[in-house]
Amino acid sequence: MKILTIVGARPQIIKAAALSRAIRTHFSGQIKETILHTGQHYDANMSQVFFDELEIPAPDINLNIGSASHGKQTAQMIQGIEAELEKLRPDYLVLYGDTNSTLAGAISAAKMRIPIVHIEAGLRSFNKSMPEEVNRIMCDHASTLLFVPTPAGMNNLSKEGFNLHATAPFTSDNPGVFHCGDIMFDNLVYFSELAEKRSDIISRLGLTDGNFVLCTIHRDNNTDIPERLSAIFSAMIRIADTYGQQIVIPLHPRTSKLLPEMLPGKLYEKLMNHTSIRIIPPVSYLEMILLEKHCSQVLTDSGGVQKEAYFFQKPLIVARPETEWIEIIHNGAGIIANAYEDKICSAFEHFSRIGLEFPSIFGDGNAAHFICSQLLNNSERY
Ligand code: UD1
Ligand code: UDP
Repeated sequence: MKILTIVGARPQIIKAAALSRAIRTHFSGQIKETILHTGQHYDANMSQVFFDELEIPAPDINLNIGSASHGKQTAQMIQGIEAELEKLRPDYLVLYGDTNSTLAGAISAAKMRIPIVHIEAGLRSFNKSMPEEVNRIMCDHASTLLFVPTPAGMNNLSKEGFNLHATAPFTSDNPGVFHCGDIMFDNLVYFSELAEKRSDIISRLGLTDGNFVLCTIHRDNNTDIPERLSAIFSAMIRIADTYGQQIVIPLHPRTSKLLPEMLPGKLYEKLMNHTSIRIIPPVSYLEMILLEKHCSQVLTDSGGVQKEAYFFQKPLIVARPETEWIEIIHNGAGIIANAYEDKICSAFEHFSRIGLEFPSIFGDGNAAHFICSQLLNNSERY
């Protein structure tokens, strides 16, 4: 079986590591994977570092599209992907998540009648002003096989008319929907121990276990709206001042670029000169999971980091108006604080006082193996 996998943004490279590993270790005789990198993320610390560290084969094709407006970026990707699909004619196109690279892949393959496999299907924020919400809905509705990480995702698809009990042969008009757990969890299970051996980030940054809050911020409705960005960073300063916590912020390049112009001058200066706030460049995956493992709480607007906080049993403060990972909130392990300074601080205070439980939500770490088995089961030729 020939599959073409599309990656482009950091989290997709990380997710692709799990599938590539499963193919390499269990299915190398049956599945041949080709990896296409759109080049949506291109800084070494947003792309290459993950190929090196997570043992992913180098991309066979790199379109080097880079940054641009949504329309221009997506259109250039479609052109490039279409040409490669034409050459390769894979049995399946494999797409992850909800970025512009996902959307471009979905449009290209749907028009060429190449079956789409969508991994991380079914997630919804119910907020179509998020570019990702539009991308994921369009991708789900063009897919032939949908792999869904959570019960909420299955429920969302059912409400949109997907038949969760459809039977093979699957097509884009009769798609197969599978609840399979979260492929990011596969990586945590695999890399958790290794991270402790390979990285000294905790001692290098002079951190102590449970004494720092890990923060990541990159969503456009936070980075591009000065009031929201100011409220979030003011909350970080207040938590550092009031609770004696260090704040560690591996900063996404989008946020780095916008921070000086979006924050009021005084706030920016205070942030930059604060002795307990550590703004650092994006870190590698192994470093990131160590930060997640040793922090006290996580404040984030990232999709992946929300889940990883739960895996490591850390309280989660969501700096968004809503989340797709609604099970975390229902279990009491996360609070949606949006971009409200007071709400973020009171969430921190709340979690400092209470103990939490973290029942399993995201599967057993074998999502990639399950996905590969289903690809083979559902193709008559293999
Ligand atoms: C993209 C995804 C988002 C995902 C995030 C993961 C879309 C619409 N958004 O957001 O869903 O959560 O990736 O991190 O697909 N930049 C660099 N270097 C890079 C990459 C980006 O400097 O290697 C800067 C550029 O100024 C660029 C900006 O970041 O304009 C935004 O990059 P882009 O890929 O368009 O969106 P993200 O915000 O990264
Ligand atoms: N991540 C990383 N280094 C960082 C920040 C995040 O390796 O400096 C990892 C993180 O552990 C998770 C993924 O990147 O696996 C999440 O990606 P991101 O927050 O960029 O995107 P999202 O998940 O919101 O789409």
